[in-house]
Amino acid sequence: MNREELQEFNSYLKGYIDNPEVRKMADFVAHGKVSVLHHSLNVAMLAYLLNSRLKLKADLEPLLIGALLHDFYLYDWHEARLNSNIFKMHGFTHPKVACDNAIRHFAVDKKTQEVISCHMWPLTLRSLPRHKEAILVCIADKLCAIKETFVR
Ligand SMILES: [Fe+2]
Ligand SMILES: [Fe+2]
Repeated sequence: MNREELQEFNSYLKGYIDNPEVRKMADFVAHGKVSVLHHSLNVAMLAYLLNSRLKLKADLEPLLIGALLHDFYLYDWHEARLNSNIFKMHGFTHPKVACDNAIRHFAVDKKTQEVISCHMWPLTLRSLPRHKEAILVCIADKLCAIKETFVR
């Protein structure tokens, strides 16, 4: 990412990245030793790069805000395995929890909601990503999860 791209990337995320609720994602682990906040920034950056390198002309606001908030569920799903079904259900349910949080805290628009709620497809079979912004984040999330889990 060159300097202009980094400036553009940051311009969309400012106002979100310092929000206390968003910062809470730093307290939870996503994969390996990577926090949910770090993972979400990785996903946003990869989605941005895929979009610019492949010249897909995605709408950057829903792409980047959706990527940043795609895992905005704010609980520790690893802890949950000790005492409830949340661990088993997390993969299916967290996109809706994250989307509800994003609406509550930031009143995100419909396209951003789709980015968040469809990112686990095909696990969440009915939440099919239709716009290119949602498809890009769905792909970037899987690539980042694999890298964060297996490459340490
Ligand atoms: Fe997720
Ligand atoms: Fe994710």
